[in-house]
Amino acid sequence: MDTFTAVRTAALELESVSRRHGRRGSGREAVALDTVSCTVPAGSFTAVVGPSGSGKSTFLQCAAGLDRPSSGTVRIAGTDLGGLSEAALTRLRRDRIGFVFQSHALNLVPSLSIEENVVLPLVLAGADPGSVRVLDRGRRLLDRVGLSGRGGGGPATLSGGEQQRVAVARALVTDPDVVFADEPTASLDPESAELVLGLLRDAVRLDGRTVVMVTHDPVAAGWADTVLTMEGGRLR
Ligand SMILES: Nc1ncnc2c1ncn2[C@@H]1O[C@H](COP(=O)(O)OP(=O)(O)O)[C@@H](O)[C@H]1O
Ligand SMILES: [Mg+2]
Repeated sequence: MDTFTAVRTAALELESVSRRHGRRGSGREAVALDTVSCTVPAGSFTAVVGPSGSGKSTFLQCAAGLDRPSSGTVRIAGTDLGGLSEAALTRLRRDRIGFVFQSHALNLVPSLSIEENVVLPLVLAGADPGSVRVLDRGRRLLDRVGLSGRGGGGPATLSGGEQQRVAVARALVTDPDVVFADEPTASLDPESAELVLGLLRDAVRLDGRTVVMVTHDPVAAGWADTVLTMEGGRLR
């Protein structure tokens, strides 16, 4: 993508997105996300805050193509997710989206080495895991997150904070259009949290990546350029 296109195309757009859940038996619906619209420019760091149950995770899941909205439009770098088949959506998630989950325990595959975890999205996309390009990319990302030389061991050899840094490395490995993070620092001590937040901010400042992070922690939200506040399924 040339610079001109990158500047003009938002990394993420939501247009009047709603997500309703049917209540079994009652015939009534719970509205987790209520006609939410927003535009996230490429190269920005956005935090989504709000009380528990306000719809933050639903926002992220719909925005990242992990859940389909009941109505409305979600675009990633101009691509309308609603127009994609399940297979195409899976490819888009793998190649153009990075995801960091809340708990480091959910993020990494325990049977793979740390290095293999980092390059997993490339390998799933068909790259040869033994190729110089893939090995080099894995090593560079591990350097980036401060874990040089640790790639050969398994995730269990790392602390929770270190595992979360590996998850950030993996989320960045494909140079995705958007990195989504749902409470990425929730289970970490303040020092580890700061390291993870610094990595996300550097991905934006140094590499021009786009990061959308859900958090209930005002300190974490303070690292973002823009803060979106959710309340009762709506953006305030
Ligand atoms: N699968 C579901 N079925 C029914 N209700 C749901 C489901 N997922 C979320 N909700 C409801 O939608 C609202 C928003 O949830 P969520 O997005 O998880 O909020 P947050 O991440 O801000 O805590 C809550 O009231 C929650 O109970
Ligand atoms: Mg949540």
